[in-house]
Amino acid sequence: MSAPAVLPTLQPASPLAAPITTLTYVTLGIGLAVFALVTGLTFYFISRYKHRGADGEPPQIFGNARDEIIWMLMAAGILVVLFALTWTTMNRIDPQAGQDGTPDLIVTGHQWFWEASYPRGTNPAGMGVVSTASEIHIPTGKKLLLEVGSADVIHDFWVPQLARKMDAIPGQGNRLWIQADKPGTYLGACSEFCGAQHAWMRFKVIAQTPQDFQAWLAQQAQQAAPPPPNQTDVENGAGLFVRQGCGECHTLRGIGARGHASQGSVGPDLTHFASRGIIAGGVLDNTPENLRRWLKNPQAVKPGVRMPNYRLNDAQLRQLTAYLETLQ
Ligand code: CUA
Repeated sequence: MSAPAVLPTLQPASPLAAPITTLTYVTLGIGLAVFALVTGLTFYFISRYKHRGADGEPPQIFGNARDEIIWMLMAAGILVVLFALTWTTMNRIDPQAGQDGTPDLIVTGHQWFWEASYPRGTNPAGMGVVSTASEIHIPTGKKLLLEVGSADVIHDFWVPQLARKMDAIPGQGNRLWIQADKPGTYLGACSEFCGAQHAWMRFKVIAQTPQDFQAWLAQQAQQAAPPPPNQTDVENGAGLFVRQGCGECHTLRGIGARGHASQGSVGPDLTHFASRGIIAGGVLDNTPENLRRWLKNPQAVKPGVRMPNYRLNDAQLRQLTAYLETLQ
């Protein structure tokens, strides 16, 4: 995977984002040209007509209908050009989506992470619908229809390199097209203030070749792996997951250690937790050490987050971490 771009907004990687960048440069160029013209003329007149010691006031001039009409037409002309360019751009980046077609992805904003599920092409016999968090995988070279919604407040889904922004509104499925030309990792962020941890509602869109994407999808569609035998910490961790009631908030598809499966939908789906690179909306990389830190006191890492502090002791932290890290 290529490294994320430094100024991603200005480095589009999609036919749905490139026209926005072009329009940005054109608008900036026109603005700079007007700025240069006005300031240039201002300085020119200041120096050309400055007071040179003659007595009395200079002749006073009021109004010039012809010049004023020319200025107004020039300004109106610029607005018309910008309007036409904006209109064309909007049509190119936002083709008609329709409300009836099945979306390729359903993206849901939560305080504070992004959930993505894949209703189409997944769910072959007996497998669950793939649901992931903070890392959204997509195939390259294909225009994908997203349905963007929210589980709580208004968020805003934005991957500058791949598409326009889209508000995520509770009870409403907004449609958005997204496309990536090349495999890579594209950074996304929530761009509507949504509470204390709005800034930590980051995500990554991981674009893969269609083959790699299908392999990922098939892997994710499987149920959670049962804990490997003879690993006491992992087994204890699986038991702890059940006793602590983690499943009240987190979905875990599969049998797990003790025949448990859970359907919680407050927090991220943990069925393939260990396959993700980031946790907690991008606050931490997904390493055992970070995970322990997170489980020890989520509020210390991300103040205001919905996940409470369960006051786990060191042994419990070790066990729960060991178990979660098996969920590839
Ligand atoms: Cu979600 Cu800001």
